[in-house]
Amino acid sequence: MLTRRQFLQMGAATGAALLVPWERALVALAAGTSTPQFAQAFKRLPVLAKSASDATTDYYNITLKPARVGIIPGTTTPIWGYNGLFPGPTIKAKANRKVVITQTNNLSVPSITHLHGGHVAPEQDGYPTSTIAPGGSRTYTYPNDQLASTLWYHDHVAHNTSRNVYMGLAGAYLLRDSVEAGLGLPNGKFDIVCIIQDRSFNADGSLSFTDSHNSVTGNTILVNGVPWPFLAVSGRKYRLRFINGSNSRDYELALDSGKNLAQIASDGGLLAQTFSTPSIRIFPGERVEVVVDFAQYPAGTKLVLKNLRGSATDGTDKVMRFDVGSPVSDTSKLPATLRSITKLTGASVTRDFTLSLSSTGVWVINGKSFDANRVDVKPKLDVAEIWRVKNSSGMPHPFHIHLAMFQVLDRTKSGVVTLPGPGESGWKDTVRIDAGETVRFITKFTRFTGRYVYHCHNLAHEDHDMMAQMEVVP
Ligand code: C2O
Ligand code: CU
Ligand code: CU
Repeated sequence: MLTRRQFLQMGAATGAALLVPWERALVALAAGTSTPQFAQAFKRLPVLAKSASDATTDYYNITLKPARVGIIPGTTTPIWGYNGLFPGPTIKAKANRKVVITQTNNLSVPSITHLHGGHVAPEQDGYPTSTIAPGGSRTYTYPNDQLASTLWYHDHVAHNTSRNVYMGLAGAYLLRDSVEAGLGLPNGKFDIVCIIQDRSFNADGSLSFTDSHNSVTGNTILVNGVPWPFLAVSGRKYRLRFINGSNSRDYELALDSGKNLAQIASDGGLLAQTFSTPSIRIFPGERVEVVVDFAQYPAGTKLVLKNLRGSATDGTDKVMRFDVGSPVSDTSKLPATLRSITKLTGASVTRDFTLSLSSTGVWVINGKSFDANRVDVKPKLDVAEIWRVKNSSGMPHPFHIHLAMFQVLDRTKSGVVTLPGPGESGWKDTVRIDAGETVRFITKFTRFTGRYVYHCHNLAHEDHDMMAQMEVVP
């Protein structure tokens, strides 16, 4: 005689056709399509070991390869990963010390890696059509002549970035400098990267990717490749670096205690001042860093990091949980003043960009889709300019530029101008532009001339086809 469980498994194997609805729901649970929340421990991302180093440079090797990893209990998931990891290993860099990474592509598809937020030469930037064929390899050189910041690296193949990132090709790149080190912020094991990505899975554990022009979202929130993890923390301060590595989903992070988050950094590194805020929005491509002092919670507190933009129906309203332990001694600091940020001024050019959906259903910038042979703007090296980006479509776009960080000047919607809030008053490389809104930012391209792309960082839009290129000229 069959047990109920065997019967349900049979149902799963035969397509569940003979089951009544509540039994089908159980089959779905057994198949892992409804993954339990806070059932798996948080995973700290491994730091990539150097293969060599000399007076000026650290050298690394990475192999892009297929692998099977455990994400959904009871199944394994085929992924494409840097060193076979989902997400890839964390690279730790120091300002003004070069990083040289040789990447070998052992995938069955072409790939090209971009260091998001990196101030790098055009041939090192991961140009979308300059791909590494299966079996090929390439060496990328990153000078790291920029401020301490949480950068990230990911695939950037024209029209296939969405699929390739979904399959796992993304990782963190942490750049440190002496100003940051002097602040006494929580460091070492109290400085934690959290790459947030939403994914959907088939019953066999495989990733369920469907290419879309509009949006690629999943019903399972992963942090560092683990669905809704719990992290055991001590009663002390932690620095948390959030990277939105999702294809299309944006989040609004908040603690379920109702207490404020102390934001210390955005895409391009530290803010001028620590900013206390009840919630923080983060769009694909963006990074935010916070310090949370768990000493303010009694041991035993289970503190949920929520996503105020998610839905309680599928659980996307939650991200992860902190399980607070006993208080411990803590000599780290959370200074009110972090770093002085020089305001960019003296722009001599204002450029206009319009983001829209073409009549044929393609996302375009100034009416045009991506063409590697066309250059739309030619900024002059070392000359500040203002970019005025208007979103005349019905949905928000996270607009991203390569090569330089920028400073947001203002947002205009329905004739009302608002200045950037403290959370976006620092250096940025990706900015949310709401439907019907125009955002102005000021930037300056330095050191390198040549061709770089700018695009929407909703990867569904980027692939179809909201990307264009500039050529920085002497
Ligand atoms: Cu993270 Cu061109 O992008
Ligand atoms: Cu980028
Ligand atoms: Cu977009």
